[in-house]
Amino acid sequence: MMDVIRSHSARVRAADPLAGDQDELPDWPERTIRAHGGVGVVTVDQIDPGSVRASWSPLIVHRLQARVSGPDPEAALGALVDRWLAGLRGTGPGHSLTVSWPSRDTAPVRALATRGFGPISVTAVRPLRQRSAPVPGVRPATAGDLDALVKLYEGLVAYDAQFGWVAVRPSTPARLRELVAGEVLPLEWCWVAEAGGRVAGCLIMQPPERSGWIARSLNAGPAAYLSVMYVDPSVRGRGMGTALTETAHGHAAASGAAWSVLHHALPNPLSTPFWARRGYRPLLTQWVRHLQ
Ligand SMILES: CC(C)(COP(=O)(O)OP(=O)(O)OC[C@H]1O[C@@H](n2cnc3c(N)ncnc32)[C@H](O)[C@@H]1OP(=O)(O)O)[C@@H](O)C(=O)NCCC(=O)NCCS
Repeated sequence: MMDVIRSHSARVRAADPLAGDQDELPDWPERTIRAHGGVGVVTVDQIDPGSVRASWSPLIVHRLQARVSGPDPEAALGALVDRWLAGLRGTGPGHSLTVSWPSRDTAPVRALATRGFGPISVTAVRPLRQRSAPVPGVRPATAGDLDALVKLYEGLVAYDAQFGWVAVRPSTPARLRELVAGEVLPLEWCWVAEAGGRVAGCLIMQPPERSGWIARSLNAGPAAYLSVMYVDPSVRGRGMGTALTETAHGHAAASGAAWSVLHHALPNPLSTPFWARRGYRPLLTQWVRHLQ
């Protein structure tokens, strides 16, 4: 098992030195599966429909963490996925499968595409540089912005839900309100931009001390996590998103963050080119399959 993991980790490091967290697997013997050249750990997440996580994911998610080695990593990953699929029990509508893979380690991933998986989102990353000039039209959010922030956040979830992984739940408005009031405003970085005297765009970033959960995916640091950006459809394409992003990057760099990390849906026709033009590139790709 350790040989497979070592060889996997060396191949990934050669493809992308920034891709972290590839040199071990959870020590979970009863959840470990093996195939020729591959080893993986399979888990099932059952997500409470009333939790905030339920807005970002299907409710039952089967997950494979895989490591593959040898001259044919596609065959090794394919054999491992086949073993995983053959062992699934009690699945049906509402269940989804997910495999996260280092984006630049492209050799194995045809095994996922040919088994009905599609890439739904990426974890993307860019280095930050010190900037000091304030960006006009953007200001830090205050408690008085709570209603506007929740409305924009709901807009983001609804927009992303179109692509089939994120979901608007009956619990979404209340959970987002609690999150913004209880965590974002007191503990995180949040800016708003106004148009015509009302808040029309927002950006939320987790400072490095709250980004440890994602920072381990990156072989560098310190990293801040850009969790939310949304601009009202009526004012898109006028530079508000760029102004919010420049503000966040400048503040994060001045506060000691060297990297910014975010997630975006790959089929999102607005965010995918937007983030690429702002200097972000894929680090990890999430491949998914919905079960019928
Ligand atoms: C992504 C998003 C925040 C960008 O905000 P924005 O204020 O439109 O951003 P900007 O105006 O600074 O830049 C948008 C780009 O699209 C271009 N554009 C032109 N017309 C546009 C239009 N009608 N709508 C959107 N973008 C347009 C802009 O010129 C700009 O191009 P550039 O990157 O070459 O500069 C916004 O599209 C949005 O809220 N999308 C839905 C939610 C979303 O995807 N959020 C990100 C989740 S990760």
